Amino acid sequence: MDNTTRAGDPGRPLRAVQISSLGTYVPPRVLTNSQLEQMVDTSDEWILKRTGVRERHIADDDVATSDLAIEAARRAMAGAGVTAADIEFLVVGTTTPDTFFPSTACLVQDGIGATHAWGFDLGAACSGFTYSVTTAMQMVASGVHEHALAIGADVMSRIIDYQDRTTCVIFGDGAGAVVVSPAKDPELRILDFAHEVDGSGGPALRMPAGGSRLPASHETVDQRLHYVHQDGAAVFKFAVRKTSEICRRILDRNGLRPPTWTSSCHTRRTAELSWRPREIWTCPKKKSSSISTASGTRPARPFRWRWRMPSPTSG
Ligand SMILES: CC(C)(COP(=O)(O)OP(=O)(O)OC[C@H]1O[C@@H](n2cnc3c(N)ncnc32)[C@H](O)[C@@H]1OP(=O)(O)O)[C@@H](O)C(=O)NCCC(=O)NCCS
Repeated sequence: MDNTTRAGDPGRPLRAVQISSLGTYVPPRVLTNSQLEQMVDTSDEWILKRTGVRERHIADDDVATSDLAIEAARRAMAGAGVTAADIEFLVVGTTTPDTFFPSTACLVQDGIGATHAWGFDLGAACSGFTYSVTTAMQMVASGVHEHALAIGADVMSRIIDYQDRTTCVIFGDGAGAVVVSPAKDPELRILDFAHEVDGSGGPALRMPAGGSRLPASHETVDQRLHYVHQDGAAVFKFAVRKTSEICRRILDRNGLRPPTWTSSCHTRRTAELSWRPREIWTCPKKKSSSISTASGTRPARPFRWRWRMPSPTSG
């Protein structure tokens, strides 16, 4: 099919869209809290209490983001019963692309053999996967494409400073992918989304060097500026406030109240604090999914989703 010849009909109504399948992949090597105790001044108890993370997966030196993404994409396609030839669009949310260019999306497109697809990388840091799903959803909802792949993939260990205890305990490597297709069952469609950006918070979570502002140099390397720098407390406060605010907004505008709404997906601590009763409904903690082994992988959302999918793919 020639993608360049098919444009959306401006008069055509948006169609309902579903997530057809989920594929996840983490590299086999694991970095445990007790191993981190040997590297920085920290403890298993501190990490577990503050983050809920016991271990994180770390890619081998010769493995890059596209390798993880390709594996997750293959698993997602298998789960959906589609082939690479059926994929017409793919988007990769990543902060650690293999290279600035070609894009990781291009490498994945070639790697899986999606010869009818176009696509691009989406840079939204921790939000990369959720933004990617929304983007893929629009492509399918508009009627322009039938099947799309939304992927979140990162090798965060390449930009983590293993001398910095405030960040190295949080992040890990992994990939998650979903196939997005027209909804077969209207009950199982993607209902809605709510995203926001607030660029004023940028200084609280950033990688200072390596871009056009501060290109790589001996000085930037010496000053360890090619790693994640984070004001953890500021990020945490913002995440907790926004999580409850946005969830409340999206549930309200869709008329959803317990028991129709049954689960949510966050890091453990965000979940615990975001759903404190206050004016929000009490959320049974056991239904607030979190994960202790995929760690702060930027695309960790799909790992958490795995608990909720009726037929999860392996990975
Ligand atoms: C990072 C985070 C776990 C730190 O927890 P916190 O309770 O905010 O901890 P603080 O940064 O206030 O530090 C408290 C103390 O613990 C220390 N500390 C920080 N990291 C530590 C570690 N790994 N081990 C032991 N102590 C540590 C600090 O130095 C500080 O010590 P001090 O009181 O003597 O100065 C928490 O802020 C967080 O989860 N932030 C969100 C991070 C996130 O999700 N980022 C990714 C977005 S996708």
